[in-house]
Amino acid sequence: MWGMLVIPPMMLPRDGRFGAGPSKVRAESVDGLVSVSRNVLGTSHRAAPVRDLVARIRTGLGELYALPDGYEIILGNGGASAFWDAAVFNLISRRSAHGCFGEFSTKFASAAQRAPHLADPAIAKVDAGSVVLPPADAEADVYAWAHNETSTGAVAPVYRMGSGDALTVIDGTSAAAGIPVELSELDVYYFSPQKGFGSDGGLWFAVCSPRALARIAELAAGDRWIPDFLNLQLAVENSRKEQTLNTPAVATLVLMEQQLQWLLASGGMAYAVARTTASSAHLYAWAEQHELATPFVADPAYRSPVIGTIDFADSVDAAALAATLRANGIVDVEPYRKLGRNQLRVGMFAAVDPEDVAALTACIDWVLQQTRS
Ligand SMILES: Cc1ncc(COP(=O)(O)O)c(C=O)c1O
Repeated sequence: MWGMLVIPPMMLPRDGRFGAGPSKVRAESVDGLVSVSRNVLGTSHRAAPVRDLVARIRTGLGELYALPDGYEIILGNGGASAFWDAAVFNLISRRSAHGCFGEFSTKFASAAQRAPHLADPAIAKVDAGSVVLPPADAEADVYAWAHNETSTGAVAPVYRMGSGDALTVIDGTSAAAGIPVELSELDVYYFSPQKGFGSDGGLWFAVCSPRALARIAELAAGDRWIPDFLNLQLAVENSRKEQTLNTPAVATLVLMEQQLQWLLASGGMAYAVARTTASSAHLYAWAEQHELATPFVADPAYRSPVIGTIDFADSVDAAALAATLRANGIVDVEPYRKLGRNQLRVGMFAAVDPEDVAALTACIDWVLQQTRS
């Protein structure tokens, strides 16, 4: 019966895409894809047009993040999931320590745990909805956690852990371009472009410190077997030539550049953060005062500015609510599938207009009102 409800069109957000990634791709980026692509789609990724595009992206990322001296941006195929496997070969010398507070931070830990050439990782774990950093561990040479846990909507602090040669390796997949980070406080910040960068999937990017670059070179020169596809030294060498080891998704690169240029022209990271902060402040304030809704992440300090998770009272069927919204063109607000909560999850990346988040909550209120009366 809920699916039959038609939300008054004037209440609807102008753009109904609130996915946690893939997420909203701006119409202007798609227009750019059509106009810019004529010169690059269907041309060699080893020739100037595509290499120039990669160069503009690397430079643009450096500008967006105020890259510290000696840090480099590398890229490759396979998304952040492939980067976990690459990290297991090229970043962890012997043993890593992980903070696990959701699906994605846990996946990297399990990749390290399964790797036969590594010692068992040290793991700190908490229930979904909170945050935990890796345990201090005298033998850990990599400390790893997610800046933003996309599966739960929890944001973690980022600062350098460990001493000596230990590297701090941060999954910025859903935080990048939406939550500020101090790069001098970490060694590797890796992400996929289909979230805050409003692009498509298939690639990974990683900002690497000089210490991380040295670790990559050292492990590549050693006797560890490293598959070429996951070899970060090859990625470093190709990235320096504005290339990837194998053929990249060129359309993804074009969309990524469109988003970068938009962010940089609008005020850079400060602009992106102002938008994600405005959207999330509204969503959480709405949920806090709502008799049927509550922010899932209890501690306000851990509530993500880019992924909002909202629990509903038992009297509300959140799945039916999401289905009704979907039937009205408001899509992808279903919770992370394995979380199993009576919840909605709202992606509020920089591309999402804060006014659309306000429209979304108004639509939810309208639907709840209809189903109660
Ligand atoms: C925090 C985080 N890390 C890693 C990934 C995996 O990214 P990909 O699907 O591009 O491999 C995701 C995807 O949602 C994510 O949210």
